[in-house]
Amino acid sequence: MKTERILVTGGTGYIGSHTVVELQQAGYRVVIIDDLSNSSADVIDGIERITGSRPDFVEGDCTDIDTLKRLFADYPDIKGIINFAASKAVGESMQRPILYYRNNLNTLLNLLDLMGPNGVKGIVFSSSCTVYGEPDVNPVTEKSPIKKATSPYGNTKQISEEIITDVINAGAPFKSVILRYFNPVGAHPSAEIGELPNGVPQNLVPYLTQTAMGIRKELSVFGNDYHTPDGSCIRDYINVVDLAKAHVIAVERMLTDKTEAPIEIFNLGTGHGVSVLELIDTFTKATGVEVPHKIVGRRAGDIEKVWADPTYANEVLGWKAETSLADTLRSAWDWQCRLRDRGIM
Ligand code: WQD
Repeated sequence: MKTERILVTGGTGYIGSHTVVELQQAGYRVVIIDDLSNSSADVIDGIERITGSRPDFVEGDCTDIDTLKRLFADYPDIKGIINFAASKAVGESMQRPILYYRNNLNTLLNLLDLMGPNGVKGIVFSSSCTVYGEPDVNPVTEKSPIKKATSPYGNTKQISEEIITDVINAGAPFKSVILRYFNPVGAHPSAEIGELPNGVPQNLVPYLTQTAMGIRKELSVFGNDYHTPDGSCIRDYINVVDLAKAHVIAVERMLTDKTEAPIEIFNLGTGHGVSVLELIDTFTKATGVEVPHKIVGRRAGDIEKVWADPTYANEVLGWKAETSLADTLRSAWDWQCRLRDRGIM
């Protein structure tokens, strides 16, 4: 068991919970803080069933600095932070920009404010390929131009990266690794944890598996008139467990002073672009389950095509997305079946 404790904000969420599993399996002690606004504390039971140990959990709002001050006082051994706590629905952010700026930015500002006085050595920040907007060229590298955000959600990620840069350049006594995710999908192979969005899923894969399960009548494919081989949008779908493992490497890198600069930025993707229609076809081939779907109009704000060049992360982090899309979609389906078997959905 390692001596350092890692604080995972938003740790009962989709990517956060998978990351807590990998952290614990790497020997770290973890404390989660989450306001449960978009997740359930039941997830902690799933983490315990997978790893055999239960992370500490504090229900709280990271936008309240006194809550965080109490947390650091209760856990003086926190040496690293992974910050997932944020609102993350692109569409919702168009309707509720103040919620997104207040939640996502105040959370980060509070953490950065408290890290120095509490001896925290580094923070891993959950960013997104959204910062690249509609890239001029694919695949996208970390040096690809940052485009004006097309949503308040994407803008909070860009502004957060700038805040971290300014704070560290001003001499803050800690480091940061910024991870720009492409499209996280799938579930833990144990089917004990997975993606469980509140209400109607905004993202493709949970909507797809709920349609395959008969919970939703039909999957709408948002447009087949894009400039892509089959007309549907292209994304880089990365397995959530592969993504989680990159976070453990990033934490290790900061705590053992292996970072080559106070701030490091990595694209986390597979390097392969897959269209919506190809993904649907892959799901059916992998599971034998059909997905009723129809082509409808484009969704406002959608990027036509974006996928990663993950070379920098492969070479510097020694990390690579290894799970096939077929296996990843099977894991998403297994999770959907587990939710049915448990009477949850
Ligand atoms: C993928 C593709 C849709 C639903 C967003 C955020 C990103 C990250 C992941 C947080 C698109 C199409 C979708 C549906 C469809 N968020 N689609 N029918 O928009 O690429 O990325 O979520 O970390 O930051 O921007 O993901 O899953 O919503 O869409 O046809 O019912 O599937 O048009 O082409 P997106 P998505």
